[in-house]
Amino acid sequence: ETETQRHGDRETCHVLVLVLCLSAAEDFDWTKNDRGSFYYGTFPAGFSWGAGSSAYQTEGAWDQDGKGLSIWDVFSHRKGKILQNDTGDSSCQGYYKIKEDISLMKELKLDHYRFSISWPRIMPTGIKSDHVNEKGIKYYDELIDNLLENKITPIATLYHWDLPQVLQEKYGGWQNISMVNYFNEFANLCFERFGNRVKYWITLNNPWSVAVEGYETGEHAPGLKLRGTGAYRAAHHMIKAHAKVWHTYDTKWRGQQKGLVGISLSGDWGEPVDISNQKDIEAAERYVQFYIGWFATPIFHGDYPQVMKDFIGRKSAQQGLGTSRLPTFSSQEKSYVKGTCDFLGIGHFTTRYITQKNYQSGHGSSSYFTDRDLAELVDPRWPDPGSEWLYSVPWGFRRLLNFVKAQYRNPMIYVTENGVSEKITCTELCDDWRIQYYKDYTNEMLKAIKDGVNVRGYTAWSLLDKFEWDEGYSERFGLYYVDFRNKNKPRYPKASVQYYKRIISSNGFPNQREVENWKRKATETCSSSNQLLAADPLTSHMEMVTEVVVPTVCTLCILLSAVFLMFLLRRHN
Ligand code: NOJ
Repeated sequence: ETETQRHGDRETCHVLVLVLCLSAAEDFDWTKNDRGSFYYGTFPAGFSWGAGSSAYQTEGAWDQDGKGLSIWDVFSHRKGKILQNDTGDSSCQGYYKIKEDISLMKELKLDHYRFSISWPRIMPTGIKSDHVNEKGIKYYDELIDNLLENKITPIATLYHWDLPQVLQEKYGGWQNISMVNYFNEFANLCFERFGNRVKYWITLNNPWSVAVEGYETGEHAPGLKLRGTGAYRAAHHMIKAHAKVWHTYDTKWRGQQKGLVGISLSGDWGEPVDISNQKDIEAAERYVQFYIGWFATPIFHGDYPQVMKDFIGRKSAQQGLGTSRLPTFSSQEKSYVKGTCDFLGIGHFTTRYITQKNYQSGHGSSSYFTDRDLAELVDPRWPDPGSEWLYSVPWGFRRLLNFVKAQYRNPMIYVTENGVSEKITCTELCDDWRIQYYKDYTNEMLKAIKDGVNVRGYTAWSLLDKFEWDEGYSERFGLYYVDFRNKNKPRYPKASVQYYKRIISSNGFPNQREVENWKRKATETCSSSNQLLAADPLTSHMEMVTEVVVPTVCTLCILLSAVFLMFLLRRHN
């Protein structure tokens, strides 16, 4: 597909969404979805507040100190894959800014920081017996030590999408079952080297995205379009890899290290368009089961959601296939996978309205999306400040958390990602829409906790603006603005820093008067940060002066004096 085609498709989608929304609006009362009023109150004592990042999105230093290539290095260097052909080559230069970034976390008074470990940085080919890169280990050692010295708990993700390229080329990446063992060896090394200090481990980040966008639509690395099968196979191997790593920790390391191992699953909430229509109710449930349930159900209950088995099985049969495109677990595998989660990480950003929609399954036309038999809609009134897909729908968060509680027997939850972006054209540090987003989403989380959901921590996504995958640097999720034009990548606080800081220090929302004050104060300080940022070209100009102009002038002076001296000497002779 070309960019224009994709754009065209998107446009058609928008029109469709609007039309469907309008026609649905006639027989559907939006107000029934009670948003509730704001809840003043505090979080349980010890609730952990944090912010997050991932290696490829922030570190830069893509080819430094012995790091091997990841599939994202290769994918982003291919023309036409990333908006404006951006790459993560230098990104925020986080690799060189441990101390600086920790001072930002301290400014926020964070309890924890969630980061990911780049597999090819510490195992350049992905295979332990080939080579372990001590310089890469040293970087994470320093990061972890510095966090602990500053009383910030490290939460480490083992896989945030940067598979070693060698494993992709040699084996086909997650299409191949051999990833299970390679990933396990990598994880085991991380437990061995960092586990004395890291007590919270996340095996995989958002495997839904890896499976669907990496192997089904091809928008993400490795860019494969194996429609109808690729995502299911990748997911199957990732679930097994997760389980194996959990067992490794459980049998080899838990005794001495006493940490926890979980997985981070992302999921939108799906709300039925018509809450009195059984078909819509079932379609919405299917949406969530195909999203978060795809991974959570095997991990908590030992097998895929029944509805996935039914739908994909039936459609595969209609296509004339002998077996389902959804792989199966043997009974041994079921019990091996079941219960491999000490805590559940939840990444959540947005919500969709869902209605039933049938897709005919013809030859070659099957896909994850058509398997679900549903259509996604949005309310055009939902705020949509940044990423196209990200509408602010706070009440969906509470529903998703309650769904998780009900489906998986109230597991311990850490929210591993939640936040909102803005477009690149906007260099505005007074981000009141982000303040509103964080305020409302964390408030819905507070309500969920009052509902009895076992949420122990919250991670704002993200600490910094950074490389946003196929969208390059065009979508900024950071609490801190990063000036990517300047090669030093300076950071500037957005107003939301001031606001989030106050939520953290009050551990919630004390009372209306105070909370209203926060917003006023936050937006007051951002205008001075805006001025700093506006002055930034001057900083780059100053660099030009010190790095180019001064040395050139000096060299010229020396040369001229030499010529002058020679001239004098000649005359003297
Ligand atoms: C989820 C991904 O895990 C993260 O890397 C990304 O930045 C956010 N979605 C926002 O798109």
